[in-house]
Parts: sequence; C-alpha cells; structure tokens
Amino acid sequence: MRPRRFLPAGPLRGRIRVPGDKSISHRSLMFSALAVGTSRISGLLEGEDVMSTAAALRAMGATIERTGAGEWTVEGVGVGALLQPQAPLDMGNSGTSTRLLMGLIASHPITAQFTGDASLSKRPMGRVTEPLATMGADFSGTTLPLTERGICPAVPIAYRLPVASAQVKSAVLLAGLNTPGITTVIEPVPTRDHTERMLTGFGAELWVEEENGERAIRIRGEAVLRPQTIDVPGDPSSAAFFIVAALLVPGSDVVIENVGLNPTRAGLIEVLRLMGGSIEELNPREIGGEPVADLRVTYSPLKGIAVDPAIAPSMIDEFPVLFVAAALAEGRTVTTGLEELRVKESDRISVMATALAAAGARVRETEDGLIVDGTGGEPLEGNPDPAATHLDHRIAMSMAVAGLASYHGVEVDDTSPIATSFPNFETLIDGLAQA
Ligand code: S3P
Repeated sequence: MRPRRFLPAGPLRGRIRVPGDKSISHRSLMFSALAVGTSRISGLLEGEDVMSTAAALRAMGATIERTGAGEWTVEGVGVGALLQPQAPLDMGNSGTSTRLLMGLIASHPITAQFTGDASLSKRPMGRVTEPLATMGADFSGTTLPLTERGICPAVPIAYRLPVASAQVKSAVLLAGLNTPGITTVIEPVPTRDHTERMLTGFGAELWVEEENGERAIRIRGEAVLRPQTIDVPGDPSSAAFFIVAALLVPGSDVVIENVGLNPTRAGLIEVLRLMGGSIEELNPREIGGEPVADLRVTYSPLKGIAVDPAIAPSMIDEFPVLFVAAALAEGRTVTTGLEELRVKESDRISVMATALAAAGARVRETEDGLIVDGTGGEPLEGNPDPAATHLDHRIAMSMAVAGLASYHGVEVDDTSPIATSFPNFETLIDGLAQA
C-alpha cells in the first residue's frame, strides 16, 4: 500500500502528453501476435495491465520486444498457432486482458489457467464464458481463478450482447478469428469499436451493418492477419483526469497533446461542455485510423446537469472523475443507467459515493447512479482519513483530482494501482501544479 495526500494546487499550467490508449495497446499486442511476421508499435502504454497481456502472449509463443520508450516489435505466430502456455496466465488487475484472451484461446486447441488479483477475482467472467462455451470452449467456472479449454474447430455463433460491453463483443469476435465460417455479434448499444477498426486494418474480413437500429458485426474465419505498423494515440480515459483538474482549479490553462477522440470514447468531453467546460480541440488529425487532437482546457465554472444514460457507454470509465467535477459544479447532477459501474475494478458508484462524501461533497447513491449536489465552485473540505481505493486505479486518480480542488487535501490509501494504466500520473500532476 502506498498512501498519499493530494494537496490543493494553484493554477495548473503547461502542456502534457498522456500515455498511449490502454484499449488500443492491448489490441495492438494481441493482433500483432496473431499476424504472420513482424509488427511495430509506437506509443504503447507500458502500464501493468498491458504488460500482463504481453506476458500471456509470450507464454503462448509470440516474441515481444521493447526497442525504446513506447516502441515495441512483435513477431506473430499466426491465427490458429498459439501454443499451450506452460504456467498459469497471471492477469493481475486487468479485465481487458482476461476477457479478450479468453476469446482468443476459445478457438485454439489449448488449455490455459487464468489467475488475477483480489479485484479481478471478484469480477464476472460469465458474460464471456457463456457465449464462448456456445462456440465449444469449456470453462471450470465464472470467476478467476479458472481453467479454459479451447477447441479447434470452434463453432461460429450469432450472439446478441446482453450487456453493453466492448470486452464481450471483442471476446466473441476474437474467437471468430480462428473459427471456420462467419461469427456475428449484434450490438444493441454501440461500444468502443477499436477491435473492428484494428482487425480491418490487419486485413481480417470484417463488416458492420445497421440492422433494425442495432449494429451487426460479422467476421470471417479462419482469418489471415498481416503485420502492421501501429501508432497508438493518447488515452482519452487518462486525459480525463487532467481535463477535469484544469476545469476545477481556478486560473488553469492546460494543453493535453495527442488525445484519441474516437466518438465511442469521447462522451466525457461532450458532457463537460454541456456543464459549461471550455475544452478546445486544436490541430485535429488522424493517427492509426483514430481521430486525434490536442485539447486546450481552461478553468470554467460548471453547472450540474442530468446526464443522458445513452451516452454512458462512450464514457464508461470516466464516471468517477465526472462525479468529482459534479461535486464542484453549481446545482445538481443526476446520473442514471450506470449498473455496469458496479462490476468494474471496484463498485465505482458506492466507492466514489463514500470517498466523495468523506471529502465533504454532497452525494446520494441510487441503484444505478449518483446524485451530486455541487458546491458551486467552492473547494471541497478534504478528508480526515484516507479514501479506500479498493485496488481501483481510477478511484485513486479521481480522488487525487478532488484533492487539487480541496481546502485541506485528499488522502488516498493506495496509489500503487495507478501503475496499471497511467505509470507517470503523479509526475504529470505534480509538474503541472508547480509550473
Ligand atoms: C474496455 C472496455 C470497457 C472498459 C475497459 C476497457 C476494452 O469494459 O471499461 O476499461 O478495452 O474493451 P466493458 O467492455 O466491460 O464495458
């Protein structure tokens, strides 16, 4: 446990660059590992979650090497040629590694054991084991630790997602890569589409159609993937902490460079603008098939709003820090339809309600969201006792932002989970506060 008190800060000023996108980084390694030949990746997020993916892929035969900061090469084995791992795959804290790799392994004739930390071992895996079992894979349970026995050939399925989850969608599509025939996923609510974009770039035959207002995604197996050169854009979910910090701390003016703005990820920016936040997009461009811009964020008094639940999937990881913004806005912010937040690295509704209330915010927890009555710009009091982060990086970083906008600082009980997604978070926040 590494506790820290985040103290109130003067204006935040300067230019920063956040690390590479976590979702794209996981997928870059996985798809490169399945291509025939050498792929090159730059801007890879070197956080613990992505390293769990790298270690698992190495254990299944891929050669993955770091050639410089964020620069990696991957020698793939080809779809269908993953090897039997000789030891359990340790997924650490990473739900994305676990669920996507379960998909890949499902259609390979190999057996793998999955283990993880206390947080990951509580998270539901039934949402992926259920469709993958229909394809023919076998699972010893629905929470970690568990053993998966893949099958080859697997059976193609058409699967309608019962929860809005890009991880479940991706698990089924990845199983489809080595399954003869066409595997279909029907998505009633759009979720992040990096798997679709990237697999198309790798040469898979994948097509997306609108059917009765739903997205139908089809992939033809057995696919042959061609190696790629990938530039990973900055992670909007990491930029989120600095966007909110700059909006809340009076006098702030921050440029965050190279932020990925895929519409399936950019919901927070839309919501913060509706609340009155000044967020400018500079130098819009495309990197690695994803829209990217530099964001200039300046201090703005915020107003509470009712957040449309339809926007939730495009900002699913950003609600903890949105709750912090709401705690300092003028008036009431109401969020609904957020049941999925209860099965993230922690129960993010209840953990944020407790942590924010202890820091002096007025919050009420409901079954599917939080109701926050903001201070109207007045800093929060701060907390007397450390906030419990429950092995959840986004809780730790959100409460760090709350500390910057408080009178006496906010202490978190453990900053170590931050390294899962954003190893240099503290360096960046300390640098901006001193500039
Ligand atoms: C992710 C999908 C989301 C998100 C997670 C990363 C992905 O999870 O919360 O941080 O890379 O596909 P769900 O699919 O469970 O919503």
